[in-house]
Amino acid sequence: MSTLAVEGLRARVGGKEVLRGVDLEVSSGKVHAVMGPNGSGKSTLAHVLMGRPGYEVPGVTVEAMLAEALPAVGAEDADVGGRLREEARRIGVDERFLGRGLNVDLSGGEKKRNEILQLGMLRPRIAVLDEVDSGLDVDALRAVSRRVEEETEERGLGVLAITHYRRLLSVLRADVVHVLVKGRVVATGGPELADELERTGYGAYGGDDQEPTADQLEEAIDAGLDGGWEERVVLDEGDRT
Ligand SMILES: Nc1ncnc2c1ncn2[C@@H]1O[C@H](COP(=O)(O)OP(=O)(O)OP(=O)(O)O)[C@@H](O)[C@H]1O
Ligand SMILES: [Mg+2]
Repeated sequence: MSTLAVEGLRARVGGKEVLRGVDLEVSSGKVHAVMGPNGSGKSTLAHVLMGRPGYEVPGVTVEAMLAEALPAVGAEDADVGGRLREEARRIGVDERFLGRGLNVDLSGGEKKRNEILQLGMLRPRIAVLDEVDSGLDVDALRAVSRRVEEETEERGLGVLAITHYRRLLSVLRADVVHVLVKGRVVATGGPELADELERTGYGAYGGDDQEPTADQLEEAIDAGLDGGWEERVVLDEGDRT
């Protein structure tokens, strides 16, 4: 049984206090979602928890990186290649991606699948996933969510999943939802909290609520509106992939 316990976490970035006392606890086998308006500190939280990943080096293949990383996490494997191909098959990553440079010229969705591939190989006890749903097509989203859920059930992986959209939580079931606003967890509840946020936005939690909610975005796309809404939609896509 592992627990990621965060208590009164503060972080200052570029002279600005971004995290202002974050409390939360993620245990083995549980999925915790973190939601919150843009700029509330979610990615900063992920970065602080993870440390800076030192392995995003162009020119290193996925297989070479894992061959280095597996012994470091005590998960040495005589047949890295074989296990890697098995993992790739489970989440629908084409084998020819395995020989390509890590994160070089991969599409947004391919990068995300690659992250989950690494998760399956490295088998951390706790995983922090920052917008893993961004850039994934609907099939990939389902494959990735299923793989993460399998890890929680079979191996007791604990997950802190940062997301803007309830869409992720309809395929990756969250046990707990935290709302992060201005560097603090201002509400914690069950999955119903995500439904409420989708409907009402962050206004009630002291968020600026200037951004359109996911429902509003979808409505705007459906209606094919031009102008402000579409511009926001496009910018958002660019930001996320
Ligand atoms: N290196 C930095 N220097 C200055 N400010 C920073 C730096 N990194 C982050 N910030 C600021 O910290 C705040 C929180 O950023 P962060 O990326 O954690 O937000 P977020 O909750 O992940 O937002 P989003 O939903 O848009 O991904 C923002 O106002 C951002 O501009
Ligand atoms: Mg972010």
